[in-house]
Amino acid sequence: MNYEETHNRAGHLVIGGCDVVELVGQWGTPLYVFDEEAVINNIVMYRNALSGLPDYEIIYAAKALLTVGIARFMANHGLSLDVVSGGELYMALTAGFPAEKIYFHGNNKSAAELRTALDVGVGRIVVDNLYELELIADLARQKQKAADILLRIMPGVEAHTHSYIQTGQLDSKFGISIAYNQAIDAIKLAAGMPEIKLHGLHCHIGSQIFELASFAKTIDVMMALMAESKALGIDLAELDLGGGLGIKYVEGDQPASIQDFGAYLQDALKNSAAKYGLKLPKIMVEPGRSLVGAAGTTIYRVGSIKTNQGGRTYAAVDGGMGDNPRVALYQAKYHAVVANKIGQPPEQTYTIVGKYCESGDVLINSIALPRLEPGDLLAVFCTGAYNYAMASNYNAVPRIPIVTVYRGQSDLVVERETYQDLIRLHRIPARWLKNGV
Ligand SMILES: Cc1ncc(COP(=O)(O)O)c(C=O)c1O
Repeated sequence: MNYEETHNRAGHLVIGGCDVVELVGQWGTPLYVFDEEAVINNIVMYRNALSGLPDYEIIYAAKALLTVGIARFMANHGLSLDVVSGGELYMALTAGFPAEKIYFHGNNKSAAELRTALDVGVGRIVVDNLYELELIADLARQKQKAADILLRIMPGVEAHTHSYIQTGQLDSKFGISIAYNQAIDAIKLAAGMPEIKLHGLHCHIGSQIFELASFAKTIDVMMALMAESKALGIDLAELDLGGGLGIKYVEGDQPASIQDFGAYLQDALKNSAAKYGLKLPKIMVEPGRSLVGAAGTTIYRVGSIKTNQGGRTYAAVDGGMGDNPRVALYQAKYHAVVANKIGQPPEQTYTIVGKYCESGDVLINSIALPRLEPGDLLAVFCTGAYNYAMASNYNAVPRIPIVTVYRGQSDLVVERETYQDLIRLHRIPARWLKNGV
């Protein structure tokens, strides 16, 4: 289990060598804790898992968690970066992330975003559709620059995961469909455009995937398409397989390890390459969740505790759907411990709810914990991916800070928002100030 509790003699949870009770004393609650060493270990595991390939690149999917500091951290560790918006691109560049290692994704990039991408010289623009292809060609022509692209293909493979995070099936908003020759026609079109340098193909079938067979199916579809292109004289040197490897959130989740995932990909790639008589292209992977998900823990303080007539006991914490919308969005499940009572036996089953004005603001539906008292600290594990990144200010609750921990040291990555931050962009039209209508 990747959320094994390390604790000290006081029975306090320890993350990255830091006592969580002390962290809270310094930084308050709720608090995201980012365990640097856990991410570094995952990066090393990805490298080892793919090292048997002739050429590969690990591209961190920024959408899972991005701040200027995190971008810097990923650059320091030699990763490339997948960004999906002008905002993510801006953060990465502000952090000094090398532009040539940035992959620019998105199914509806604006002309302004594309212009910036061309101006700063991102490594690849991952083109989602024909409208975008024409737009990029136009912009590149105006700038008298070639655009380095991959084409995103919808491979028609259904990954077994929640429908909201499936992306590779034929009815998806992402990419160019493999069906009705649309993909091969797009490849021919792009390859014939003088302003476009088509380097290869991209696909991404979904997220939190446990069943590796979906990846093998995808690889086979993509390699068949590369063979079809080659037969037309279009040699594609790069294949980006996207992200998607799942992680263990709760008991019963059985994701493949990064090592097994890498070995599986390599086998599938070699089989398909042999089947279609192709040389192995350069392979890219774009992990998000499997790099940072288990490295994040959210620490909350418990407030009100009440038992209703049906016998359900609700324990409310000082955060909730504003810092973790994944439960309300797609019924995500989490495990938690009482950070100041590690080692004490579970005594009662609780429903952990947040402080937001929504009945759906539930963090954990049912969990057995030591007896809770107001003031206890609840640590919810595996909140490193798609939590801060999806956080909102619903109910005008300030967003919570991120602290990174490494070998006993803690440092701020994002400060806690203040009430002043909440209203920074608010304006009162002058007419309203005069009591006018
Ligand atoms: C294109 C693309 N690449 C990579 C990822 C990262 O996926 P994950 O966090 O599951 O590894 C996503 C997430 O949905 C994505 O859309």
